[in-house]
Amino acid sequence: MFEKVWRNFRKPQGLGGRLLISTMNMGHAPISRWGLEHLDIKSGDRILDIGCGGGGNVARMLRLATEGRVCGLDYSEVCVEKTKRLNRKAVNAGRAEIRLGSVSENPWPDNSFDIVTAFETIYFWPDFAGDLKEVRRVLKPGGIFFICNEMSISDDGEAPYQFWITKLNLNIYTPSDFQRYLTSAGFAEPEIITEGKSRVCVKARAEN
Ligand SMILES: C[S@@+](CC[C@H](N)C(=O)[O-])C[C@H]1O[C@@H](n2cnc3c(N)ncnc32)[C@H](O)[C@@H]1O
Repeated sequence: MFEKVWRNFRKPQGLGGRLLISTMNMGHAPISRWGLEHLDIKSGDRILDIGCGGGGNVARMLRLATEGRVCGLDYSEVCVEKTKRLNRKAVNAGRAEIRLGSVSENPWPDNSFDIVTAFETIYFWPDFAGDLKEVRRVLKPGGIFFICNEMSISDDGEAPYQFWITKLNLNIYTPSDFQRYLTSAGFAEPEIITEGKSRVCVKARAEN
């Protein structure tokens, strides 16, 4: 029974998944707000939120990109439904578009976005090196990839949330890992910001 609950963190499904994503929008609000303080969103930006979950971050970014467009991508049907429902006014107005799909096969064409965001989701990405290349492909040259995580590991191996990392089988990256993966995927000068015991956000610019 608990295995089913843990699986829903990775890919929310069915009633359990629906319940989880409702609580996720609330539970993740503090980390999202902290992360967004470090991201400069301009009114006309075109943004993609990968692993959009319950759509709380799509809603938040629509309030910042007032003349722009915010898209969402998730491989969970219940997440796509919930994000569309929460952001239905923007979807109906053509300011938001939410698609079902995997980070590994991003459905948008090359050079589509000024910013791609990933809140609390890279833990589950199946092929970080390859998935970053997909992120790079859909970003315009000079565009920003932004990662925001509550759980991280330091370069000397300290991971305050080790229980959850093991329980949920999460992929966790050190600051050196982020530098290495992002640079190899065509991003310049990743900037890593940390706070408190484990929060991290990473900003990296797609090279021209
Ligand atoms: C912990 S939730 C975070 C949701 C949301 N970003 C937030 O901060 O509340 C992780 C999300 O990533 C999605 N996800 C995980 N792996 C994915 C993949 N390979 N492709 C697309 N979405 C993925 C899950 O379906 C889930 O909605």
